[in-house]
Amino acid sequence: MKVIIASDHGGVNLRREAADVLEELGIEYVDLGCDCEGSVDYPDYALPAAERVAGGEFDKGILICGTGIGMSVSANKVKGIRAALVHDLFTAKVTREHNDSNMLCMGERVIGPGLAREIVKTWIQSEFEAGRHKNRINKIAEYENK
Ligand code: RB5
Repeated sequence: MKVIIASDHGGVNLRREAADVLEELGIEYVDLGCDCEGSVDYPDYALPAAERVAGGEFDKGILICGTGIGMSVSANKVKGIRAALVHDLFTAKVTREHNDSNMLCMGERVIGPGLAREIVKTWIQSEFEAGRHKNRINKIAEYENK
């Protein structure tokens, strides 16, 4: 599995935690930054990362900003992206099982590093259940391709 990670200035610390978890799990990843002192614009990180997941270069992506909302709203504009904003372990698991989410978004101003690390682990290790959920994913793809 190959994962791409990115954050704006509001998510630098949680992005480092996410990178650390991926390393612990032995998962290959590319870190797009930001390595910024000042403020940057989250779409400048979310959109390139999402395009590289949608294009097949990466299997999954992890995006972090202050709330996770800007990252998830931006990433979900890219065709083929199902970005899930997650701040608890239940939805971390179920969004993989039911939505086949291919990007995980979190907010550094919302949750602490311990929970964020567990969310990354849970989300990465949970599998899509397909079955009745596949039909629902197909409907989203059909809408995107209209
Ligand atoms: C940046 O201040 C903040 O707006 C951003 O990190 C994010 O929370 C946007 O959704």
